[in-house]
Amino acid sequence: MLELAIKAAREAGAMLKDLAGKAERIDRKAGEETNLVTELDRRSEEMIIGRIKAEYPEHEVLAEESGRDSKKSEYRWIIDPIDGTTNFAHGLPIFAVSIGIEFQGTLVAGVVYDPTRDEMFTVGKGKGAFLNGDRISVSTTTQLIESVVATGFPYDIRSNSENIEHFRNFLFEARALRRLGSAAIDLCYVACGRLDGYWELSLNPWDMAAGVLLVEEAGGKFTDLDGRLGSIYSKTVLTSNGRIHDQMVEVLRKGRSSWQRRK
Ligand code: IPD
Ligand code: CA
Ligand code: CA
Repeated sequence: MLELAIKAAREAGAMLKDLAGKAERIDRKAGEETNLVTELDRRSEEMIIGRIKAEYPEHEVLAEESGRDSKKSEYRWIIDPIDGTTNFAHGLPIFAVSIGIEFQGTLVAGVVYDPTRDEMFTVGKGKGAFLNGDRISVSTTTQLIESVVATGFPYDIRSNSENIEHFRNFLFEARALRRLGSAAIDLCYVACGRLDGYWELSLNPWDMAAGVLLVEEAGGKFTDLDGRLGSIYSKTVLTSNGRIHDQMVEVLRKGRSSWQRRK
């Protein structure tokens, strides 16, 4: 199954690389002024689902643009056909294809493909995390002040602005803070040590399914913002190399209480 996911991600990624910034049609998702979807989001998704269904017609699919199909299976493929659509639509070369696979509700494998850099991140539960076939692991940084961390903002940031508080706080508490615009790539970068930590408040399962397994298999930690067991279905995500995790939880805890006091 991982081989099939790799093939599908590579194929969709190759098409996206050629067409980045040249999408002919850019729509806005219903009622959401800033949430873009290009015709290529849909085409990439169709391409990936087509491959999966050809080989595993009985498996369930949960994909960003087409939602959840009606299949009841022990296997669920969780697909983001372009993670980083805003970057993609504007020709910013930071976007990826993400495919995660669950078996009986547990993540067992995943792929994130960044076609711009030809970087294929792959993972199997209990088998480790890899970048273009080489094993990867999280960084060894122990202090938040020596760390580079990242976050992202939801499309409904105007009505859901808590993360601005955290963003501000991490600017002071970490060495540097980045906002790359692709949750899947943020997670891969934690897995391979380019970032030491990453959090976000309002994600969907397809943004993080493959990425959080990559982080865990690379030796990192995935929890909710309070440091409790993480779930790809619970919107919030905190990942790190493990060593700075508690320090990040503390910054988030303080941020939440001051934000709630001011609300
Ligand atoms: C978005 C990206 C972005 C994150 C948003 C996601 P999309 O996914 O991952 O980095 O901050 O919350 O919705 O819409 O480009 O697939
Ligand atoms: Ca996404
Ligand atoms: Ca997407």
